[in-house]
This record gives sequence, structure tokens and C-alpha cells, in this order.
Amino acid sequence: MQIAPSLLAGDLSRMALEAERCRGADFLHLDVMDGHFVPNLTFGAPVIADLARHTDVPFDIHLMVSDPEVLLDDYLAVRPARLAVHWEAVTHMDRVLRRIREAGVEAGIAINPATAVEGLTDSLHLTSFVLFMTVNPGFAGQAFIPEVLEKMGRLEAILDRTQLAVSMGVDGGVGPDNIRMVAEAGANLAVAGSSVLKSAEPAEAISRLRRLAEDIE
Ligand code: DX5
Ligand code: ZN
Repeated sequence: MQIAPSLLAGDLSRMALEAERCRGADFLHLDVMDGHFVPNLTFGAPVIADLARHTDVPFDIHLMVSDPEVLLDDYLAVRPARLAVHWEAVTHMDRVLRRIREAGVEAGIAINPATAVEGLTDSLHLTSFVLFMTVNPGFAGQAFIPEVLEKMGRLEAILDRTQLAVSMGVDGGVGPDNIRMVAEAGANLAVAGSSVLKSAEPAEAISRLRRLAEDIE
């Protein structure tokens, strides 16, 4: 299981230091919010570009913004490993996914808890990963919504039928109590905000999550 700590749950005024505390992370998950698509505002491409000068850990950017197409180039210019846009926020998903892929970045679709995964079927051939939101996006520290796991099974059935290789990630309320369930539901990546950043030893929290996911603790 890959672990992507969400820096949103840390002290945002010390982002580079928080990134350093997350030793062993596979990716740093960066939650961009615009105060419109979600009722919260965080940071944008200039902050992420500055952070990139302080860490070698690849970035996993999660755009929670209306119409992400407008500023997409700014986020791609930071050269993240992965970038997800929200299904609910994009009008021309085909064009957006192609632009992300053409930049050499893994293209992801994030979906809210109430969004049916079946709607994504005709976009999956352009998609590297689906990020299942297990909270309503906007804030760190919310409770995990377990009903979403059933939806992951429905994506697996579509992938079996279409023979497409799309990986699954989970974002929101993930911690030691549910990471095993998340792994069993088929996720190969878990975003973890509070359970990692609010702990005294984030690096240890990351390796513990990985061990629990693999059921070796
Ligand atoms: C929620 C964000 C998540 C969040 C995760 O809108 O997309 O990435 O920061 O934080 P926790 O793990 O605390 O829910
Ligand atoms: Zn996120």
C-alpha cells in the first residue's frame, strides 16, 4: 500500500518542515481548494512550486477547484507525479485528462461520496487512478464514510469487464482503524492527513499504516 500524507492536516505555515517529518511517504498529497468547489481555501501552484525546492518526495496534487482547466498548466508546470481533478468540477473531462497525460503526469479522477462511479466508464481509458473520497471534501479531520468501499467493488467489476488498468486510491478519514478495510477494498494508495500529521512521529505513523494495510501487525 502506498501512503500519501496530506499536508493539509499539518501546520500550513511550516509546510516544508511538515514534508520533512513525513519520511518514508510515497507521495506528498497536496489539497488545493478554491473556496468555491469546496467551502475552504488552501494554497495554489506558487506555494507548491516553492515546496518542491525543499523535498524530493513526488507530489500527488488533488485539485478541489471549480473548472480546473483554467489553471491546469500552472499545476502541471510543477511536475507532480500524479494530479487528480474532480469529476463533479470538470465539463470537458476528455480534454483535461489528455492534457495531464501529455504532460507526463498520471491523470486521476477524484469522486465525491455521493457520485456514482459508473459515470466514469467512458473516461477510464484516459485515467491512471480513481481517487475515492471517503469524506465530503473541504477539510481534514472528518470521519471516514465506509459506504464508499462498496463503490470501489463496482469499479473493479467495470475494470474486469473492460480490461483497463486503473488503480484506486482512498482519501479522507483514513487511519489505523480502517486502513485494512481500505486495502481489502482494492486500494493501492491511501491518503492520510490527520492520522499521520497529527501524530508525534509522522514517519512512524506512515510505516505503521503500511504494516496494518498488509496485515503484518
Ligand atoms: C479532504 C482532503 C483530504 C484530507 C485528508 O478534503 O482532500 O486529503 O486532507 O485528511 P484526513 O485524513 O484528516 O481526512
Ligand atoms: Zn485530498
